[in-house]
Formats: sequence, C-alpha cells, structure tokens
Amino acid sequence: MQTPVPLAIRRLVEADAPAFLAMRVAAIVENPQYFGSPAAEEEAAGVAEFAARIRGKQDGDAVFGAFRGEVLVGIAAMFRPASGTMKHRGTLWGVHVEPGERGGDAAERLVRAVIDHARCHVDVLTGHVTVGNARARRFYERLGFDFSGVERKIFKVGGRHYDQEILLMDFT
Ligand SMILES: CC(C)(COP(=O)(O)OP(=O)(O)OC[C@H]1O[C@@H](n2cnc3c(N)ncnc32)[C@H](O)[C@@H]1OP(=O)(O)O)[C@@H](O)C(=O)NCCC(=O)NCCS
Repeated sequence: MQTPVPLAIRRLVEADAPAFLAMRVAAIVENPQYFGSPAAEEEAAGVAEFAARIRGKQDGDAVFGAFRGEVLVGIAAMFRPASGTMKHRGTLWGVHVEPGERGGDAAERLVRAVIDHARCHVDVLTGHVTVGNARARRFYERLGFDFSGVERKIFKVGGRHYDQEILLMDFT
C-alpha cells in the first residue's frame, strides 16, 4: 500500500507565484460568482503581479497555501488596509481548495492558519461569502465566523447579480 503524501500549510514565497496564478484561475473558472475578478483579468495580470500579491503591501498581508507534497492544493489569504482607521481589520480572501481535497482537513487547516495569523495582526477578520454558496457558509460557521449582514449585488456574472454575506471574527 502507498504511504499517503502528507499535507503541509505554509506561507507562499515568490517562487510559488506561477502555481498561485494557475490555482486562482482554476478557482474562478469553476465558480466565477464567488470571486472578485474574471479569470481573463487574473491571467492577464501575470506571474509578476501574483509575486507582488505574495510579497504584500502592508504588515499582515499574507497568502497561505496547502501543499500535498510539492503540489499546491489550496489557497487562503489575508489583506490589511493601509488606512490608519482601518488597519485593525483584516480581510480573508481567495479561499479555494481543489475539488479532490474538499471534505478533508485541508481547507480547515488552511483557513485556521489565516485566523491564527490574523489574531497576531488585527482586531477583526472579515470576509465575504456569496449567497447560495452553502458549503462555504457552513464551513465558515463551523470555524467560528459570525455573519453580520448581506451586501447586495456585489458581483455581476453572466448578466446575473450576486449578493454576498459579510463574515466577521472578532478577536477583541
Ligand atoms: C469552501 C471550501 C474551501 C470549504 O472546504 P471543504 O473541504 O469543502 O469544507 P468542509 O468539507 O470542511 O466543510 C464543509 C461543510 O459544509 C457542509 N456541506 C457540504 N455540502 C453542502 C451543501 N451543499 N449545503 C450545505 N452544507 C454543505 C459539509 O457537511 C461541511 O459541514 P460539517 O462540517 O457540518 O459537516 C471548499 O469547498 C472550496 O474550495 N469551495 C470552492 C471555492 C469556494 O467556495 N471558496 C469560498 C469563497 S468565499
């Protein structure tokens, strides 16, 4: 019997930019209504832009990956605003694990890494989940996020509007 390849969670480094780009595009192609930019825009942004996202701009910006061996199988990230009145507030973004890893522990370990990171940098971790994404909603609820309202018509994909629920985890 083959030994299962272990799963590891770590911060991405710039060398992961091509895999990050490929995973982001795959995530958007699968579920365009869950993400804030079309796949073509992300592809056009290119590897250098993805390396810049990995480097981040603010202290606290971070992109985490789940790796099965050497292979990137999931992404979850935190963004922190520059503004002095908003930098207490991290935003969870880009959460995606590849279909073959769903239902295991990859997503939970990945997002818990972002939560642990957020706890050290910000007072609250916020995020969004598209209304109708019941699996992700249940996942975030299990991890302890509260739901603090709905923003209407956030995305428009294929002529249809999508609302998003606001997630919040308060560390204070
Ligand atoms: C969201 C995501 C990261 C969650 O990871 P996952 O491995 O699928 O999550 P889990 O299996 O640990 O948890 C899913 C929960 O939803 C439940 N669930 C599964 N399908 C469901 C459905 N159709 N309706 C409601 N709940 C559902 C599961 O039973 C589980 O709940 P439980 O712990 O109470 O049993 C992953 O599904 C994913 O990458 N999805 C596509 C991208 C996406 O939606 N990203 C989030 C953008 S905000």
